[in-house]
Amino acid sequence: MYRSRIAGIGANVPENVVTNYDLEKMMDTSNEWIVERTGIRERRWVTQPTGAAELAFPACLEAIGDAGVEKKDIDFIIVATITPEHPMPGTSSFLQTLLELPGVPTLDIRVQCSGFVYGLSIADQYIRTGRYKNILLVGVEVQSVGLNLTTEGRDVAVLFGDGAGAVVVSRSDDSSEILSTHLGGDGRYAKELWCEAPIGYKSPRISKEMIDQGKHYPKMNGRQVFKHAVTIFPKVVYTAMRAQNWTIEDVDLVVPHQANIRIIEALAKKLGVGLDKVYSNIHKYGNTTAASIPLALYDALKEGKIKKGSNVILAAFGSGFTWASAAIRW
Ligand code: ACO
Repeated sequence: MYRSRIAGIGANVPENVVTNYDLEKMMDTSNEWIVERTGIRERRWVTQPTGAAELAFPACLEAIGDAGVEKKDIDFIIVATITPEHPMPGTSSFLQTLLELPGVPTLDIRVQCSGFVYGLSIADQYIRTGRYKNILLVGVEVQSVGLNLTTEGRDVAVLFGDGAGAVVVSRSDDSSEILSTHLGGDGRYAKELWCEAPIGYKSPRISKEMIDQGKHYPKMNGRQVFKHAVTIFPKVVYTAMRAQNWTIEDVDLVVPHQANIRIIEALAKKLGVGLDKVYSNIHKYGNTTAASIPLALYDALKEGKIKKGSNVILAAFGSGFTWASAAIRW
């Protein structure tokens, strides 16, 4: 059995910064409401048609360079996104083309905010069995183009941002290791945070009527999501800690999905630690769904909060509901 590690990381966000004050001009909202309830001050939104693969491409090149490998060394491409360019084929096919890697297997996964950690778990299994040596794993979202930017959609629209984070998961030859991954979900809550249309089992899948009813916009039962998130985030962190026989003192940094600062604060409180041990960069990117954990990891590394030998826990919770965690020795 081989061991896997995150060998390289890259990030890319659109240049266009959208502040809460910019949103005040589009809908009935306020900087105070958004900051107080979510911790978000600004997010990045694309300004021209940009596919998820296009947004991810520079992040992938950075991750490949950071891993010290070459494009031709990539054995498998996994993309986590809820915002593919088209219903089919997946974003990973478009990304493979941009990377000029014909023949390399590609896989899109759709587990929303948990997508990156699910992808890490998949990559880890393939490396452990010796099947592949270097896997490109990407979390990417172009969400801004699919939001209802009127007052009607404000509860969701103010939360989400665009961005991409990529890692190369490679066979480990030192102490760095993805030690364990833990996945879960409960589909009974699928409609608490969902996008109803296009509807896969109806003809037509999308109609003017559905569009008039706004069924193509994401909808969220915010309170229900909040309630479950504050329960499940600590549980998945404890699951990862137990698997490693770690106490919270053994953990150097928890990097949670960036859903909402109040959820992150509740997690820190439950763990009995300060926000110095539970990373957040939500103030500048908002909720970037599958991209949020790699973007947070990237910033935490740049800020020196994760160093060689650090014990890190990734924790995710999202639509589905789905959840996941990973224990990593950096
Ligand atoms: N600006 C101003 N007012 C707003 C906005 C907005 N953007 N959105 C909603 N409101 C209004 C509502 O219409 C409501 O008005 P009313 O009292 O006149 O009816 C009022 O604000 C309060 O609405 P609530 O839904 O009660 O607000 P709440 O305090 O619950 O906060 C929030 C809403 C922030 C969405 C909260 O429920 C929450 O944090 N939920 C967690 C959801 C989350 O973080 N989702 C992220 C995606 S899921 C994930 O990544 C895991």
